[in-house]
Amino acid sequence: MPRTAQAAEMPSFGTLDRDAGNLSRQVAEALREAVRKGDLRPADALPSTRALAAALEVARGTVVEAYEQLIAEGFLESKAGAGTRVALALAEPQPAREPRVASWQAAQTGLPERAEAFARIGREFKPLPPVPFAISVPTGMTAPGDIWRRLGNRLRARGPASPTGYADPQGALALREAIADYVRKSRSVRCEADQVIVTSGTQQGLFLASQVLLGPRDQAWVENPAYRGVTAILESMPYRDAMVRVPVDAEGLDVEAGIRMAPKARVAFVTPSHQYPLGMPLSMARRAALLAWARAVHAWVVEDDYDSELRYEGYPFPALQGLAPDRVVYLGTFSKILFPSLRLGYVVVPPNLVDAFCGARVLVERHPPTADQHVLAAFMTEGHLERHVRKVRNVYAEQRLSLIETLEALLPRELAWIEPGDQGMHLVLWLAARLDDHQIVRRAANEGVAVRAASPMFAAGTARPGLILGFGGFSSAQMKEAAHRLAAVIATVAK
Ligand SMILES: Cc1ncc(COP(=O)(O)O)c(C=O)c1O
Repeated sequence: MPRTAQAAEMPSFGTLDRDAGNLSRQVAEALREAVRKGDLRPADALPSTRALAAALEVARGTVVEAYEQLIAEGFLESKAGAGTRVALALAEPQPAREPRVASWQAAQTGLPERAEAFARIGREFKPLPPVPFAISVPTGMTAPGDIWRRLGNRLRARGPASPTGYADPQGALALREAIADYVRKSRSVRCEADQVIVTSGTQQGLFLASQVLLGPRDQAWVENPAYRGVTAILESMPYRDAMVRVPVDAEGLDVEAGIRMAPKARVAFVTPSHQYPLGMPLSMARRAALLAWARAVHAWVVEDDYDSELRYEGYPFPALQGLAPDRVVYLGTFSKILFPSLRLGYVVVPPNLVDAFCGARVLVERHPPTADQHVLAAFMTEGHLERHVRKVRNVYAEQRLSLIETLEALLPRELAWIEPGDQGMHLVLWLAARLDDHQIVRRAANEGVAVRAASPMFAAGTARPGLILGFGGFSSAQMKEAAHRLAAVIATVAK
């Protein structure tokens, strides 16, 4: 018999702030919080809209609107004659259970609430061991190797990469010039070197964008599903309603849905050239719609262009930034085409945002370490990067095909199938709905195979089980062997 919750049973309801406006959003957030904290459990029946409205002393329409929003997000479900209840899908095993323990611990130890969110992120972002199918492990043919080492030795021993004092928080001019030149030519980005800010990778670019562009009660669109590096940032922010998960379809971000859900959002975080993790590009029509919306409401679009160099069929769309350099913050990284431990990437911002991004960057880590910036600048200006990209693109194209063939031969379609993507260093392997991707990740790890679960990339209530498989840096033989072990794990879990 499902339990019917009473408003009074939900401590997370607190009091509504009537001066802050938008009561239905506050009711929705209080209900989400009640679910997150476990005051409301999957299958619990909610009070009728009339009863909850009376208990909270708000109009019934306010509660109806909140319920409708949560039904659209998948938090609640409603059946004719059976009222509204907490979605059963939320009972699926997910790592999000840990926060309850953390929350209890926080209450016991007096740790600040945000410490809980950061601790969860810290546990989740542990690197995978360098075995198939960890992402971004450039070894052998795909490591920059000798040239990188020689340049490093030369420049560190003397010249610009030798020890100096504090440097420019925006990054070394030589590197910014090389980056501006590179993105202008390869991605049709419209910029000058003084709009480029060197970062320690896209992760930092995303963080800086969230700090600079979002006010205390501002909302941001984030694709559903999305890179955990961006959803985790928004989860860590004090404003619980900051993130609005906007669905994607075959054309990428559903801009109309975004406008319905949060018309006045300040920022849209998008992966237009290769939706992460699904792989489709944002269509031209959607690009135009997204930029028209951004212009109309003075919002910013943060374009994460993390792997567009690694395209195996046809040509990538040019960067969105080239269509609206005044509204788009463009993020690039060397993690994919060189190696992630380099920790170098860049943000290209409209001129009026340069000082703000530099200021935010100073507070995070003053400036990027100098020596590798100069090594990278020389690597780019002497033409090595272009050659390296051509080489890794060929190697990855072969590895990708070989992995697809291996997996298709090994896995029965009713258990697992590949999302066809033509870009990047990873594939998505979808799993039958009854399989638990976390369980498969754990069992695969015991077998020496490193995969990440896809379900945490989705908003609550919309998750699909799947695995993210990196194919960079491993030989076909290594991947074949690991694919056999992974297929055996999936078969065992499916029994
Ligand atoms: C969507 C997306 N953005 C950015 C990155 C790269 O982040 P970073 O430059 O911080 O290594 C990744 C890496 O996996 C990614 O998948």
